Amino acid sequence: MLARSRFILVLVVGALLAVLSFSLQHLHLIPSNPMAEQRSSGKSRKRVNPVLQTDPTDRDPIRDTHRYCNYPNQTEHGWEGHSPPDYKLLSVQVMIRHGDRFPLYSIPKTKKPAIDCLLSEKRKPSHPLLASFIRHMALGGRGHWDASLGSLSRLPNHSSCDMGELTQTGVVQHLKNGEHLRQIYIKRHRLLSVDWSARQLWLETTGKSRTLQSGLAFLYGFLPRFDWPHVTVRQQWSTLFCGSSCDCPARNRYLEQEQRRQYRHRTSDKELENTYVAMAKVLGVATKNLRAANPVDALLCHFCHNLPFPCSTTQAKLNTPGERACLTLQQFAVIRQQQKEDEMKRHEAGFYHRYAVLAAHPYLNRSATRMERIARGMQTRKVNEEAIFTLSSAHDVTMAPLLSALGLEGAGYPKFAARLVFELWNSPETIDERRKSDRNKGKLHNMFIRILYNGEDLTFETTFCHEHHLRSVQPLCPLDNFLSFVRKDMFSIVNATSYHQACHQTVV
Ligand SMILES: *[C@@H]1O[C@H](CO)[C@@H](O)[C@H](O)[C@H]1NC(C)=O
Ligand SMILES: *[C@@H]1O[C@H](CO)[C@@H](O)[C@H](O)[C@H]1NC(C)=O
Ligand SMILES: *[C@@H]1O[C@H](CO)[C@@H](O)[C@H](O)[C@H]1NC(C)=O
Ligand SMILES: *[C@@H]1O[C@H](CO)[C@@H](O)[C@H](O)[C@H]1NC(C)=O
Repeated sequence: MLARSRFILVLVVGALLAVLSFSLQHLHLIPSNPMAEQRSSGKSRKRVNPVLQTDPTDRDPIRDTHRYCNYPNQTEHGWEGHSPPDYKLLSVQVMIRHGDRFPLYSIPKTKKPAIDCLLSEKRKPSHPLLASFIRHMALGGRGHWDASLGSLSRLPNHSSCDMGELTQTGVVQHLKNGEHLRQIYIKRHRLLSVDWSARQLWLETTGKSRTLQSGLAFLYGFLPRFDWPHVTVRQQWSTLFCGSSCDCPARNRYLEQEQRRQYRHRTSDKELENTYVAMAKVLGVATKNLRAANPVDALLCHFCHNLPFPCSTTQAKLNTPGERACLTLQQFAVIRQQQKEDEMKRHEAGFYHRYAVLAAHPYLNRSATRMERIARGMQTRKVNEEAIFTLSSAHDVTMAPLLSALGLEGAGYPKFAARLVFELWNSPETIDERRKSDRNKGKLHNMFIRILYNGEDLTFETTFCHEHHLRSVQPLCPLDNFLSFVRKDMFSIVNATSYHQACHQTVV
């Protein structure tokens, strides 16, 4: 009898941990590593898949968390739109992570962070476009809204933020992102003409208000006072943006393997365990309840908003009477450190990368198809029916697999308002090349791709162009490399040659 109830207890705890592990997986907020150290050199010639790791002594969890917050008080820089002279920019596809948000969980027996989610240009951080953005969103009824998006609020609108709500910081981050890319793509490269048409722009988001609002803020920075009737906002039902290709049993099994690894790693960390116990004691809650509340998510919000860490709302028994017990920066640093270590272990184990290849394929396949159509249309001088600017407003759990699938694990976990950009370029054609292309019809020899993450050019860090960089004199990466990577080569890591085959094979 005793043995049996113990067995049931084990089952219940196991189920609880599985749920917790899953939710943590989806909230695994690991900051970026410094980009500067990722520039590859000839030394890494043999590494097909550049897992870029920084010096362990440089892994200060607090400094990294500052980077993760992505404070909008600095000017945005980036290498977007840079190319050899005479190259023509044909299309740009952008994926963003939503901006700064309110926590998704609250820590038991503490007050929620006091943050106002009503937008006001008088409050910091502000932006020159903020006031007109607010006015423009009030006219949103003139736009076209897919599925349930029309009923979502187009602006954060609670004086005390809702769980997961985009903050003013988040809005400003994306106004800045949009404005930065406007300077480059619209002003310098004239990507969309003054009278751009509705079909040239593709906008998609998940059904969460924070991604919708982030996308709109970005769009407003990119095309201030845009014409609402020209805008259609599409809804992606899956956070993986997998459209009608979401069915992939093997992907889920790789994710389960990764979650088991993550759980083992976490539970074997004694310092982390002690930290949770100490935090729970301060607040007067059970350790397992504290863990389940994923306290790092709420602490990140306090940290990024420069708010003091939460204190127990009940009077804890302390040596000094009257003093309240609070969570500390040190405890936060321990959890962040463990997350960073977990990130490294995740790369080494490889389950996540396999998951990521299958998770990211549908989005990459759509991007590849779009680029190829634009490139072929250009060659045959046909009218282009594809959108030349696309914006996908997404989550960390969308962007992280994309980076991993492209071989960019070292780029770090997506910070708030992170941006990933795919550019398609056309080089001027010499007469010699034109003769060659007439003989060699299938090839897109004068089409090139660039991949940028938060303004850093990571094209030659990707799996599909790492080798090219070392061998070739071409200044950019051929589009063909990307196309064959997406259609076939990316599946070699799971011993397959197609998405369908990879998804439906047995995972050992
Ligand atoms: C930007 O804001 C953050 C947080 O408020 C602050 O720590 C940092 O010093 C500011 N940086 C600049 C350049 O103003
Ligand atoms: C915020 O906007 C949504 C959608 O328009 C609406 O349902 C909700 O009542 C608004 N909340 C506040 C506090 O105004
Ligand atoms: C990839 O794109 C092609 C169109 O180029 C389409 O026919 C195919 O179904 C797509 N595959 C997946 C798995 O999405
Ligand atoms: C791929 O095949 C190799 C050799 O047969 C094997 O060692 C490896 O585990 C396989 N990988 C996957 C993901 O199935």
